[in-house]
Amino acid sequence: MSTVKGKVLKHAEQTRTMHWVHLICFIILGLTGIGFHWHVSWINNLFGGPANASLVHRWTAVVFTAGPAVYILLNFERFSKFIDTISSFSADDFKWLKTMGGYLPFLKGEVPPQDKYNAGQKLLGWVVIFGCLVFILTGYPMWFWRHDVSPAFLNFCYNVHFWDAIIMILAVAGHFFLAAIHPKSRVEFSSMMLDGYVDAEFTAHHNGRWFAQLSKTE
Ligand code: HEM
Ligand code: HEM
Repeated sequence: MSTVKGKVLKHAEQTRTMHWVHLICFIILGLTGIGFHWHVSWINNLFGGPANASLVHRWTAVVFTAGPAVYILLNFERFSKFIDTISSFSADDFKWLKTMGGYLPFLKGEVPPQDKYNAGQKLLGWVVIFGCLVFILTGYPMWFWRHDVSPAFLNFCYNVHFWDAIIMILAVAGHFFLAAIHPKSRVEFSSMMLDGYVDAEFTAHHNGRWFAQLSKTE
């Protein structure tokens, strides 16, 4: 289960590296994208002017796409397990959603035991996968085929890409709040951002179903 007493290894080194790469790319893409859309000159200047900002956006997008692709190829079994976990919605997950895991003070009730990811994180996992696919499906045509596709299709890609960016920035802001600031969940911060470990006692309580499986395989 773990080589550190009282701790559980939750995220392996390659997962943490991929998450960092994706996070840094996301911030650069979000900033440059906001810079083009609203013609924010200080953002464009930060990246060497509008033409350079556009180049930075496009080549960062390549890393944003290639990073997870390489990770999936090198960690296929781990990625399949992640997909299995976020695809399985048990009665406990629906109960978790009813009480929003106890995060909202006005929603009272028992918080049921969760898998490696709670029901909210499972949903975020799907939002991230779907949102990134939409970035890819709209962003590359805007880059490579802008002179070949009809103006209406190009305009459609711009609109969908823009609204995808707004939804994803809001989703990541919520994810950041829960992972880094909220006192109840920020204890998991180090599991993805630092050494990969999370407190065993906390995990036994917050991810009871996963903890029980780990204890069985120990
Ligand atoms: C596969 C990844 C992506 C690709 C290939 C891509 C590509 C592009 C391209 C070609 C443009 C047109 C502007 C230009 O010519 O430079 C653009 C605009 C934009 N991108 Fe991306 N992008 C990607 C990911 C992202 C992400 C992750 C975000 C936000 C977090 C984002 C936000 C934006 C925004 C807000 C615009 C401006 C749209 C508008 O003017 O309405 N992009 N992107
Ligand atoms: C803004 C700073 C961010 C912080 C502080 C952060 C932190 C974390 C932490 C601590 C976890 C592990 C949670 C757990 O084990 O229970 C995690 C998981 C995850 N992160 Fe992030 N993250 C950030 C940005 C992002 C971005 C930009 C993306 C993708 C666009 C992303 C996608 C994910 C996904 C898919 C997971 C696994 C499923 C989940 O926990 O919902 N994260 N993150």
